[in-house]
Amino acid sequence: MKILGVIDIGQMKNKFMPKNFEVTAEELQELLRKNDPLLIFDLRLQDVYKNGHIKGAVHAVCDAKAKETIMPKIPKDVRIVLVDEDGLMASKTAKIMQSFGLDSYYLKGGMNGWNKGIVKGNPPSSIESDSLWKKMQDSKDDIFLLDVRDTNEFSDFKIAGSVNIPLQDIFKEEHFSKIPKDKEIVTLCPHGNRAMVATFALAKNGIESRTLAGGLAGWSQVLNPVKAIEANPMIIQIEKIGKGCLSYMLISAGQVIVIDPLFPAEKYQNIAIQNNATIVKVIDTHQHADHLSSAWHLAETSNSTCYESELEQWDRTAQQLLKDGESIEFGQSKLRVISTPGHTPGSLSYVVDENYVFTGDILFIESIGRPDLRDKAEEFAGELYDSLHNKLLKLPSDTIVFPAHHGQTVRSKNGVFSTTIEGASKHEILQLSKEEFVKKVVGMTPPRPMNYQKIIQINRGSLSFTVNEIPDLEIGPNRCSIAGT
Ligand SMILES: [Fe+2]
Repeated sequence: MKILGVIDIGQMKNKFMPKNFEVTAEELQELLRKNDPLLIFDLRLQDVYKNGHIKGAVHAVCDAKAKETIMPKIPKDVRIVLVDEDGLMASKTAKIMQSFGLDSYYLKGGMNGWNKGIVKGNPPSSIESDSLWKKMQDSKDDIFLLDVRDTNEFSDFKIAGSVNIPLQDIFKEEHFSKIPKDKEIVTLCPHGNRAMVATFALAKNGIESRTLAGGLAGWSQVLNPVKAIEANPMIIQIEKIGKGCLSYMLISAGQVIVIDPLFPAEKYQNIAIQNNATIVKVIDTHQHADHLSSAWHLAETSNSTCYESELEQWDRTAQQLLKDGESIEFGQSKLRVISTPGHTPGSLSYVVDENYVFTGDILFIESIGRPDLRDKAEEFAGELYDSLHNKLLKLPSDTIVFPAHHGQTVRSKNGVFSTTIEGASKHEILQLSKEEFVKKVVGMTPPRPMNYQKIIQINRGSLSFTVNEIPDLEIGPNRCSIAGT
């Protein structure tokens, strides 16, 4: 069955006039059988959708924001059928959409009344984030990333190399010339809804494309592991590529310590298994504000111990608290704790076997951490200066620095993001006196990470969350350095 087609819907409309916005299961099956071009939006939860949906239906989020941002951009001549569990919400939404002038209907009785066969997984006109990432590694130049968000959303953050044509402009012929014919086209937006409408519009004009499943929110969850150090301990750097967050697995004599783990936490378990090793300890450098730490979850599921800084505020009690000068052993290696406040009051850096230092959000490859995310910028800036100059920059100059993030413009070396104390000591901002430093840093107010207050509350243990919420909470760049990248 081909859902995306080039049939003139205007002609079709006269032959198809359902009453009360209703489409019965039989009528919908007939439309599908005839290859009528129509968009079927499945409004149920994504997990439920993936477990079984009508062939060709796409998952759609139908909250107030989606209605506001997408409805006005859908052309009036596209037939839409909404599907939910029982037809109740879908009927109301179809009516609202019709009031916008859209050609919208709903499946009478919803999926409860559908007995015509279902399929599982994502539709073939979509591509999963992991698959896109792999393709981009192999043949980046063969892929055309078409971002259909509004211009202001695109300028806020984007996937490097993507091109912006807002959804409402996709339907204008003059924009088709901007789309190459010799590349694989992937449409993208925050959750995949607008992009899927774009894929539909392109297909109507004979251009094949696929939609990034889960959109930029899904993209923000891709984890990419790279072996950074082969020796003992082996160090694997795991990057959340959509955000530039960096986490680490240190493996020594079959024992693993994980630093700043991200979601999805299963990735770390899988890597440990691949390396015949066992996760024994899980540790954060600080209470993160831009992404959810999976430290608690990973420690629980891997039956290992979770360590956190004793100087952060926690609403949990099941962790081991760490302070300056303590050591943690794993395999044949030793991790030494240095208190380096300034980004948060309890920020810790970890020196491993006196060769490597994990600096969290205090010292980056290209920049330093920002002191303003706890609203005490001046006080924290002074501490940040002391942590940098009196502690980190006092380490041997060849110590390898592994930070918790990298900026959007920073390039890796052989896929690894790191520097040395000597390299980092050359940052311009580190040449200033303490007074100049505080004045300059306090005066810099780059945009804050999206949802940072909620993320802090979750990481602190004050607010519960579900795994399904993570992509939305984490969408957008990391914004933990003073450069705002
Ligand atoms: Fe941070």
